[in-house]
Amino acid sequence: MYTVLKDDIDQLPELLAGVWQMSIEYLEHLNSHQSTAPAPVVNWPALPDEGMGAHATQNVFDEIFLPHIVASSGPRYWGFVTGGTTPAAIAADWLVSVFDQNSQSVGGPGDCSALLELQTVKMVLDLLRLPHDFNGGFVTGATMSNFSGLAVARQWHGKQLGVDVAREGLRSNIKIYTAMAHSSSLKALAMLGIGSNNTIAIPCLPDREAMDIDALQQVLDENGEEPFILLASAGTVNSVDFDDIAKLALLKRKYNCWLHVDAAFGAFAACTTGHAQLVHGWEHADSITVDFHKWLNVPYDNAIILTRKEHAELQTQTFHNSSAPYLGILSENFSFLNFVPENSRRFRALTVWFTLMAYGKEGYRWLVENDIRLANLLAEGLVESGYFELVAPVRLNTVCFNIHPDHAGELNITGFLRELHKKGTVFMTPSTYLGRACIRAAFVNYRTSELDVEQVLNDMKEVAESFLKAKTKNIRN
Ligand SMILES: Cc1ncc(COP(=O)(O)O)c(C=O)c1O
Repeated sequence: MYTVLKDDIDQLPELLAGVWQMSIEYLEHLNSHQSTAPAPVVNWPALPDEGMGAHATQNVFDEIFLPHIVASSGPRYWGFVTGGTTPAAIAADWLVSVFDQNSQSVGGPGDCSALLELQTVKMVLDLLRLPHDFNGGFVTGATMSNFSGLAVARQWHGKQLGVDVAREGLRSNIKIYTAMAHSSSLKALAMLGIGSNNTIAIPCLPDREAMDIDALQQVLDENGEEPFILLASAGTVNSVDFDDIAKLALLKRKYNCWLHVDAAFGAFAACTTGHAQLVHGWEHADSITVDFHKWLNVPYDNAIILTRKEHAELQTQTFHNSSAPYLGILSENFSFLNFVPENSRRFRALTVWFTLMAYGKEGYRWLVENDIRLANLLAEGLVESGYFELVAPVRLNTVCFNIHPDHAGELNITGFLRELHKKGTVFMTPSTYLGRACIRAAFVNYRTSELDVEQVLNDMKEVAESFLKAKTKNIRN
């Protein structure tokens, strides 16, 4: 054996203890760790001829890269939709690497990882209060989940026209109606050969990011008998608006269509007492996207595609690995590799199983409701400060706001965010809501508390005041 590799095996306990120690220190200080940092200038070492061993490599990493790490799983990382990592999920994710299972076939020799995955799917359905009418398969994120759901939808569409798209390729255009599809769905359509430009835009309700169903109905009345796909949003990324899924589901009775619901993080409204009605009717969807590295608070990369059990055959047609005889006979051996895009698959379900067992329905109800409460607290504080105004009501867990018109002369979003981010305490992202520039804060982390909201509001006021002072000084000069 290569000597350095052999030495590493001999020193495995010390190596893992070092990483364990580093992890403990990082996680112990995560709440006060920087949420932003300037783009790093890293002096990367070249690929060595002789390896330096894992311990020395960790030292190099500590020196050149660790100082630049930002607390993206910390309590004040409010950019994008970035979930935290529960203790159980971190522990399980380590084990996923240790066990290194290739989660594929349920009947495979000595392979129990796929069995645990099947069990975890049932627990996910229970958490989200969905009936057990759905199959599920773990994928890397909501983008791949949207891809998978839309891939099966494409196969369904082909079947309506007598074409097996997976074998023969696309033979006709597919009509896809959507109002505010997330960019990842458009990316999925690009990858599926349907084309990201080939959606039919349905207008939103006034001042909303939710589909105007009456407008959709009018378009559909002219559609004739053609099969089509409805691409719905259960939680738009800006204001977390929800298409009326119950109404869309009713259309399924009247028209020959497939309903795909992107509920990447909006799905978690189902765990709450007060907001569960937002996903009302989603149990009638054909496919649903749910991301776990967002509001389930597990490490990247982890998500699920849920598809109605009656579509299992379409799904296996879509993803069947037909050209590898050693993979077995499809009808006899269920295997995830015939059910989702990847062949070899990380044992992602273990992480989700751990965190669901560890915190249960009550834990996740608390987590989601706590984030919703904190989003509202931030919104109140922003309005009270007089420096900011909301551009959308807080519908779930994001706050979209702008500089108050009274201060638009002294402050602008880019300059304000640049100065705020220099403090390192919080990270938020600029966005556009219904054509208006805004700042967006998303609450998706169990670590976030009132103290974090208070600290950020203080920092924001301080930055706003520094701009006002600078402006007054300039006028005097
Ligand atoms: C509604 C929605 N769908 C899909 C995605 C894509 O998720 P991922 O980055 O996990 O692929 C996101 C990401 O924010 C999202 O908010």
